[in-house]
Amino acid sequence: MRLAVAGGTGTVGRLVVEAARSRGHDVVVLSRAAGVDVTSGSRVDEALAGVDAVVDVTSTATRSAAASEAFFRSVTTALLDAGQRSGVGHHLVLSIVGAAQAPHGYYAGKALQEGLVTGGPVPWTLLRTTQFHEFARQVLGQARIGPVDLVPVMRSAPVAAAEVADRIVDLLEAGPAGRVRDLAGPEELRMVDMVRAYARATGRHGRVVAVPLPGGFGRALRDGTVLPGPDTDRGTQTFSTWLDRLG
Ligand SMILES: NC(=O)c1ccc[n+]([C@@H]2O[C@H](COP(=O)([O-])OP(=O)(O)OC[C@H]3O[C@@H](n4cnc5c(N)ncnc54)[C@H](OP(=O)(O)O)[C@@H]3O)[C@@H](O)[C@H]2O)c1
Repeated sequence: MRLAVAGGTGTVGRLVVEAARSRGHDVVVLSRAAGVDVTSGSRVDEALAGVDAVVDVTSTATRSAAASEAFFRSVTTALLDAGQRSGVGHHLVLSIVGAAQAPHGYYAGKALQEGLVTGGPVPWTLLRTTQFHEFARQVLGQARIGPVDLVPVMRSAPVAAAEVADRIVDLLEAGPAGRVRDLAGPEELRMVDMVRAYARATGRHGRVVAVPLPGGFGRALRDGTVLPGPDTDRGTQTFSTWLDRLG
């Protein structure tokens, strides 16, 4: 198959590209580093020529609902419009467990993105997963006061991005399936413990302190909204195994 990975240079995107190529698929990467800014819409038609399926794993670093909505509206609309024009037969979007129930902050953009895809013109698959193990790295350093790193109070059941990437390629090979079973990791952890362990394992000094975020977004992180339900598939790699393998 010819596959397009929007966000194919990102945390999970590059693993999707690797997994798809190792299974013999022809892969085109859409990202600014690869010369395609999807928000501008330019070069997207060209990139999707002859593509059978698109997976959208783009992202933007923001906690602002307005900024998140603007980004995901622009990326999703550009990919769906160009996909329709190019005859793409499958659009797979990766979202987050709980994002539609907690449409605040960054999740507002993800909820909007889900709506655009599921109501859109291209046959679709919606996969929701929990935070990746790699999320600990993404969170560390985002908010700092002097030597202290601040991390939101958050419950999570983190999953290895490599297992998410494998699931994505399975789903691309299977064809449009609508909303599929969520994927989570094998255990529940506190985000502050994940970030502390990641900081220790990578030789960072300084304290990591958990702070409750205000508003609905913060509440969703604390109250289990972003934890998996009972009908969720579970990955096998634990956070500590992932940390050990970082070397
Ligand atoms: N991280 C998690 O724990 C997690 C958990 C569940 C679901 N998700 C979802 O999975 C997706 C991927 O997350 P991630 O953590 O892998 O993201 P990431 O590491 O931040 O990577 C984002 C990707 O998007 C690309 N991108 C950003 N702006 C772009 C633009 N204007 N045009 C084209 N490409 C653009 C980036 O490449 P360039 O900078 O080169 O453009 C990069 O390849 C997101 O939708 C996220 O909501 C993430």
